Amino acid sequence: MYSLIRSLLFRLDPETSHDLALRLLALTSRFSNTRKPVQAQAEHDQSLPLMGIRFPNPIGLAAGLDKQGTARDIFRRLGFGFVEIGTVTPEPQPGNPKPRMFRLEEHQALINRMGFNSVGLEQFKKNLAATSGNIVTGINIGKNATTPINESIGDYLTCLREVYTLADYIAINISSPNTEGLRQLQDRELLDTLLASLNREREHLSDKTGNRKPLAIKVAPDLDHSQVNAIAALIRSHSIDGIIATNTTVSRPGVENHPRQPSTQIIKLLHDNLQDEIPIIGVGGIHSPESALEKFEAGARLIQLYTGLIYQGPALVKRILDATGKIHRP
Ligand SMILES: Cc1cc2nc3c(=O)[nH]c(=O)nc-3n(C[C@H](O)[C@H](O)[C@H](O)COP(=O)(O)O)c2cc1C
Repeated sequence: MYSLIRSLLFRLDPETSHDLALRLLALTSRFSNTRKPVQAQAEHDQSLPLMGIRFPNPIGLAAGLDKQGTARDIFRRLGFGFVEIGTVTPEPQPGNPKPRMFRLEEHQALINRMGFNSVGLEQFKKNLAATSGNIVTGINIGKNATTPINESIGDYLTCLREVYTLADYIAINISSPNTEGLRQLQDRELLDTLLASLNREREHLSDKTGNRKPLAIKVAPDLDHSQVNAIAALIRSHSIDGIIATNTTVSRPGVENHPRQPSTQIIKLLHDNLQDEIPIIGVGGIHSPESALEKFEAGARLIQLYTGLIYQGPALVKRILDATGKIHRP
C-alpha cells in the first residue's frame, strides 16, 4: 500500500509532496479516533523512563517533518512512541528559496536545505493548541536567520519560555547546516554560555511552574573527537538531560556512501564519554531494523526517523519495534 502512495507522492517535487502528505496526515488525525493507537504500540509498551519521561516505545519522529506542529496526533496511530516538532523560530521566516529539498532516490537519501522555514512561535502555539497532544512531544527550538550569532541566546530563551509548558522536552538545535553560523554554537565557549543561560532560565521556569522540563541538545555529525568530548563535558556541567545525535550532515559523500556511519560514530563517542548517565537519542540513516539496532548497540536509548519513514513508510516503525523490542532496558 505505501509503495503505491509513495510512487504517487514521488511524482511531485519533494517539498510539494511533503506538504501534501503532512496535510493529509493532519486531516486524517482530526477525523480519526486518536485514542486508539496502532496495535504495535500496545504490544511493545516498554514505558521507558528516560529524562524523567515515560516513553511508550523508543521510536520517535525526528524534527523537521512536522515543523509547524500541525500533525503530531497522527504519529501515535502510526506506532511512534514520541514526536519532535519544529524547528520553531521566534519570528516567522520563509527559510531558503525553493527548491531546497531534494531526493537522491538511488541512495534512499534526502538533501535538506530548508533553512528553518517557520511560522514563528505565535502561530506554532496556535497549531499545537488545535491538536490533542496524545503523544510524548519534544519541541525543537532555533534562532531566526536575521539574529546575529552572538545575540542568538535571546532567541533560544524566548523560544524556551514560550514552549515550556507545551513540551515534554525541549530540544536545542545548534546543528542545522542551513542557518549561517548556527553550528558555531557547538564551539566550547559559545556553547558554555548558551547552556548556562538556558539552564538558568529552565530553573526559573521550573520554580514558577512547579514542573522541571528536560532539555536536550541536538548536535551535528560533522564533529571531531575533541569537539564531542568538549560537548559531553558541557552537557554534564550544565545539567542537560539528553543529547540528540545527529542532525543533517554537510558532507555529501557522507550522504551518498554511508549515511548512517557518521551519526553512529558520534553516538559511540558520546556513549564512551557519558555511558548511560545522559540518554542519547540516535538519529541518522535508520532505514531498517538492522540500522536501528546499530544505533542501540552504539549506545542510543531512543531513536528517531525521518528519511527512512519517507522511503519505507510507517510500516518501518512496527518492523523496528518487532526486531528490537527485546533489547530495551527499562
Ligand atoms: C527535509 C528535512 C528537514 C529537516 N528539518 C530539520 C529541522 O527543522 N530541525 C532539526 O533539528 N532537524 C531537521 N532535519 C534533520 C532530521 O531531524 C534528522 O536529524 C536527519 O535528517 C537525519 O535523520 P534521517 O537520516 O532519518 O533523515 C531535517 C531533515 C530533513 C531531511
